Amino acid sequence: MKPVEIAKGIYDVGVNDWNIRDFHGYSTHLGSSYNAFLIVDDKIALVDTVKEEFSDELIENITRIVDPGKIDVVISNHTEMDHSGGLARIMHRVGENKPLFCSKMGQKNLSLHYPQHFNYHAVENGETLSLGHHTLTFMETRMLHWPDSMFTYLNEEKILFSSDAFGQHYAGFEKFDDCMRDDIMPHAKKYFANILLPYAPLILKLVEQVTAMGLDIRMICPDHGILWRKDPGKIIDAYVRWGRQETARKAVIVYDTMWHSTEKMAHAIAGGLSEQGVAVHPMHLRKWDRSDIMTEVLDARAVVIGSPTLNNGLFPTLGDFLTYMKGLKPKNKVGAAFGSYGWSGEAVKLLTQELEGMKFEMIDPGMKVQYVPDEKAIAACFELGKKIGLAM
Ligand code: FEO
Repeated sequence: MKPVEIAKGIYDVGVNDWNIRDFHGYSTHLGSSYNAFLIVDDKIALVDTVKEEFSDELIENITRIVDPGKIDVVISNHTEMDHSGGLARIMHRVGENKPLFCSKMGQKNLSLHYPQHFNYHAVENGETLSLGHHTLTFMETRMLHWPDSMFTYLNEEKILFSSDAFGQHYAGFEKFDDCMRDDIMPHAKKYFANILLPYAPLILKLVEQVTAMGLDIRMICPDHGILWRKDPGKIIDAYVRWGRQETARKAVIVYDTMWHSTEKMAHAIAGGLSEQGVAVHPMHLRKWDRSDIMTEVLDARAVVIGSPTLNNGLFPTLGDFLTYMKGLKPKNKVGAAFGSYGWSGEAVKLLTQELEGMKFEMIDPGMKVQYVPDEKAIAACFELGKKIGLAM
């Protein structure tokens, strides 16, 4: 991708990662991008870099605009290596004595990633940097989503460089929200559900702070995906909704199955929920990626989980999913567990304990069926679906 001038003298010099399909366990069906921004003023600043293997492309993009050696200051909003992996190469080209601005935790964390003794300048929250005609303000956003995370705000243009926040894993030729032919919001939602959800209370606090400051935001430039130019308020409003963990009359049935018995139970429970007017989404754990399931869980009021009993325990995919979901800390959920078994039948009890541990409001002690559900068992599963629907 060639650089794009996003405002006068301000360029996105980042890269598209067209072919990535697994971003540390998060499925990226449409690739991703690592956005980086060049601000050309009396002083020249680079905001963030890219994954290490895209460093050449970043340098090529910068070189189309300025000699990288003319960059005066490099800013690292976030240490994670999709944004800092190119730092060593960039600093080598920029000049190793040039200042590297980051948060205090950024300095600590960058030092733990890279042995080079960069010329760190750890900023205070609210500190400013004049580039000539433009002034940058640095805002610490600790734990959104790493301890080092910060935003950089370009006052005159009212542009917020927001690091991972408001991002989406999406690679395309479009650069802005108003250029999209397809809806970008599902990708933004997936990003929130899988990266930012554990920090939802901090997001609400941050939005409150920004509102109280009266910060005028004309454009939001995240480090992944498209830039919010047409309607930055739309993604901020969505973050407030997702941050509050508002739910819809919707149920996700997450399950795995060995000989289709647990699957038959899942479909019968789905029928009962549907009869109660609930939008229901059965998701087989070996057909759906865990990150896509979490996207649906984000705004679902009910999460119903099914597992056959295997070797006195859970089917392994359930162990994977429950570990993942627990770490993301979903709230405001009702739940129930179900599953088939042969002779011991521990899985339903184990699922129930896991959901209780996540503070789900359990609607039922759990339903288990030996071997294959007969007509009576299917009817009972249907009734369980209705019962969950009534409790939502
Ligand atoms: Fe896109 Fe937290 O890195």
